[in-house]
Amino acid sequence: MRVLFVCLGNICRSPMAEGIFRGIVQERGMSADVDSAGTSNWHIGEPPDDRGQARLREAGLDISDLKGRQVSVDDFDSFDFVIAMDNDNLAKLQRLAGPERAHKVSKFLDFAAGEEGRDVPDPYYGGPDGFDHVFDLITRAGHGLADHIQSKG
Ligand code: 4NP
Repeated sequence: MRVLFVCLGNICRSPMAEGIFRGIVQERGMSADVDSAGTSNWHIGEPPDDRGQARLREAGLDISDLKGRQVSVDDFDSFDFVIAMDNDNLAKLQRLAGPERAHKVSKFLDFAAGEEGRDVPDPYYGGPDGFDHVFDLITRAGHGLADHIQSKG
């Protein structure tokens, strides 16, 4: 199973999702290819935001070697799940995917019970609390996504 997480910059939410979901996959003994990308080209080649790296480090997860990249149309061939963090990412991905591959695109918090339809808030302009909140949301949705993948066998 191949999973791509997508946000705007690929330096806050989606690299956190990549690292947290890798941890969940490993914990459950699943096999999955996990990657992340941004809808913008603003942070290509840059490492994840220090605040996100620090929050994951507290959980024993290292994302220091990740580098920002922009999502491309080829990603819809390479990945089974393309997961948007918010409505803006979702709309851009659906447009890029086109009608034949739009079924691969979903919204991350639709996999978190009680959070369906909501956005993972962008923590870029806030303080460290924002990163704690995002960490919790991503962890819950990550388990929901893992359940979903495992239920499909
Ligand atoms: P992300 O957060 O989409 O979660 O990576 C952002 C990172 C950078 C910017 C906006 C959001 N920015 O405006 O540069």
